[in-house]
Amino acid sequence: MPLLPNPFKALVIGSSGAIGHSFLELLSNHASCQEVIGIHRHSTIAINYLEPSSIELAAKALISEGPFQLIINTIGALHTNQFMPEKKLDDLDPIYMMELMNINSIGPALTIRHFSKLLDPKNSLMITLSAKVGSIEDNRLGGWYSYRASKAALNMLIKTAAIELARTQPNTALIALHPGTVNSKLSKPFRGEQIGRTPDAAVKDMFQVIKNIEKEDTGTFLSYQGEKLPW
Ligand SMILES: NC(=O)c1ccc[n+]([C@@H]2O[C@H](COP(=O)([O-])OP(=O)(O)OC[C@H]3O[C@@H](n4cnc5c(N)ncnc54)[C@H](OP(=O)(O)O)[C@@H]3O)[C@@H](O)[C@H]2O)c1
Repeated sequence: MPLLPNPFKALVIGSSGAIGHSFLELLSNHASCQEVIGIHRHSTIAINYLEPSSIELAAKALISEGPFQLIINTIGALHTNQFMPEKKLDDLDPIYMMELMNINSIGPALTIRHFSKLLDPKNSLMITLSAKVGSIEDNRLGGWYSYRASKAALNMLIKTAAIELARTQPNTALIALHPGTVNSKLSKPFRGEQIGRTPDAAVKDMFQVIKNIEKEDTGTFLSYQGEKLPW
């Protein structure tokens, strides 16, 4: 049986991004969504993965708004002001590697730690956007070391948290979701505009998947088409 109840309350983390903003729009106009709150680096309740203490503070500030039946975390980075993804070993830089780990792995893990307490124990979903290039098994092209490694670490953190929560919050599913290539600030330097779908189209697909997630799906890596991806 699908976990998402009707009506439901939702929280979008990273609602300033292309996909996050589009989720906020879709949910604001969805008949079954009673209320949706969006937070990001510059919202009143701010969350910044380069300041890990902001994660717990944001979760605490939102406790009275909960419980939420759906939390979607869309925060992520591929390039920074100074760095582009590596093409070869000689491009590896510890500062860029650390920044991507902070934004793509450590921040989302701490978000699961603190925001899982805001989830409805009766039935809820926490979706974290990952990326297919984080699949170790699917890695055929190489390159993009830090992004791939940070999303692979994210996948392991989600899987591990799902095993723990299955014991303590058995009616909650934790999912790693791949949005496909989407036209956004993140994908722009890599022909995202030409090869990516619009954020609205991607979010429509992903919401279709989210609506059908059952508690038995917890700890899986799904694509926007609903297929199970290899870790
Ligand atoms: N676009 C794609 O083709 C694609 C493909 C596979 C996976 N994904 C994943 O999908 C997710 C959303 O990506 P998108 O395409 O929507 O990219 P985007 O438009 O660049 O949005 C990225 C979001 O992450 C936030 N963010 C970045 N660094 C942060 C930090 N230090 N602290 C807090 N927030 C931070 C951004 O906040 P600001 O607005 O403040 O910068 C923004 O809300 C990411 O996890 C990405 O890895 C995207």
